Amino acid sequence: MASNRGPVSYEVRDDGSLHARRGGGGLVSGLSAIGPDAGALWVCSALSDGDREAVRRGVGEDGVRMLDIPAGVHADAYNGIANSVLWFVHHMLYQTPLEPVFDAEFRRQWASYETYNRAFAEALAEEAAEGAAVVVQDYHLTLVPGMLRELRPDVRIGHFSHTPWAPPEYFRLLPDDVAGQVLRGMLGADRLGFLTHRWAEAFTACCERFAGGLGNTRVGVHGLGADAEFLRKRSREADVDERMAALREEIGAGRRTIVRVDRTELSKNIVRGLLAYRQLLHDRPEWRERVVHVAFAYPSRQDLAVYREYTDAVRRVAEEINAEYGTPGWRPVVLHVEDDFARSLAAYRLADVALVNPVRDGMNLVAKEVPVVSDEGCALVLSREAGAYEELGEDALAVNPYDVMETARALHEALSMGAAERADRTKRLAAAATALPPGRWFLEQLEALRG
Ligand code: G6P
Repeated sequence: MASNRGPVSYEVRDDGSLHARRGGGGLVSGLSAIGPDAGALWVCSALSDGDREAVRRGVGEDGVRMLDIPAGVHADAYNGIANSVLWFVHHMLYQTPLEPVFDAEFRRQWASYETYNRAFAEALAEEAAEGAAVVVQDYHLTLVPGMLRELRPDVRIGHFSHTPWAPPEYFRLLPDDVAGQVLRGMLGADRLGFLTHRWAEAFTACCERFAGGLGNTRVGVHGLGADAEFLRKRSREADVDERMAALREEIGAGRRTIVRVDRTELSKNIVRGLLAYRQLLHDRPEWRERVVHVAFAYPSRQDLAVYREYTDAVRRVAEEINAEYGTPGWRPVVLHVEDDFARSLAAYRLADVALVNPVRDGMNLVAKEVPVVSDEGCALVLSREAGAYEELGEDALAVNPYDVMETARALHEALSMGAAERADRTKRLAAAATALPPGRWFLEQLEALRG
């Protein structure tokens, strides 16, 4: 298995000791459930100084090989190409009057992306047993299947995309040669996996338009589900109970809660979510003092200026709403911008409404986790542009993520939903959300790749 982010990351403490913690994001949540248990080797990248130190000291988890790619090469490939170009293309995030600009700097970064992909391909070629199945993950590693195919024609190669795929009209923003390299790189795989039919169809359309079709590569859809067993157990542990008590204190007795949990990620649409909440307070004064919007936004990709600016914008709008509507006994928005998994689970448990409104999202596991963990049922306001919508659309309240007025109305409807209906819907949402738990999701792909 290969991915940029691995299951652990290390931090050097002041006393020089290394402290390990679990990596974040949908990919790691999905794959952590399986990797080492299945006897697989997980090849990933050293992402921090702590990770590099761990590689140097030879510290590490069993079944994990971290690649110490030179920091500058990694920064170009990860920040420059993967997160500022490919992520932007697939999530259609560019503000096109000014971006993108494919200049000499881009070409330099693209060369690093090739080097970084080659480092993975070489490590995999070295590690894989004769005829092994190798599953490559995500947009960071689109060139690996093609490169590995040349080095090791005997192995079975799969690639899985945890993001959306751009439609041809948007994908063609990329320089022709780069677009061609990405598609040909992916088509080096025997089988490609996507989270929804929509993304698989977009990829197929791009290949038909720009690469003469799929060739011998097969395409499949595997909608990664929530890990019910893990979540139910973890969310009932003592630290989560403690966080619940603290949160209840912050919210105030007898109030409804609208919860959202995201990385501080441009595509998650946190700002428009706050604007919709402000609209709700404006249009429906009856909710003032009676509801709190609990928003957890975990710092992500803070090396990129636009992510830092976005995080600032989230903070600013939350403060504006609190200044405009808050009273001595009521803070309308409770915003926390730091990572705390136990606190997220606590918020999931007590949420009356979950707001998941990304402008575009490969799947969105939060939408699937909340109904599984919820104590008393939770209404889900869900963007029709999230991959999860394909599976959860029927029992969620669907919104156009750009339409703040519609989102405000959906929040009102969700807050007003009767307890029985909410509980019924939550049950059905939880069933749909756990239809393909991570273990089976992975095995299904392996079987399809081997078969
Ligand atoms: C998305 C991507 C993953 C990525 C995760 C977290 O879910 O599909 O590949 O790991 O975001 O982002 P990060 O840049 O922190 O790895």
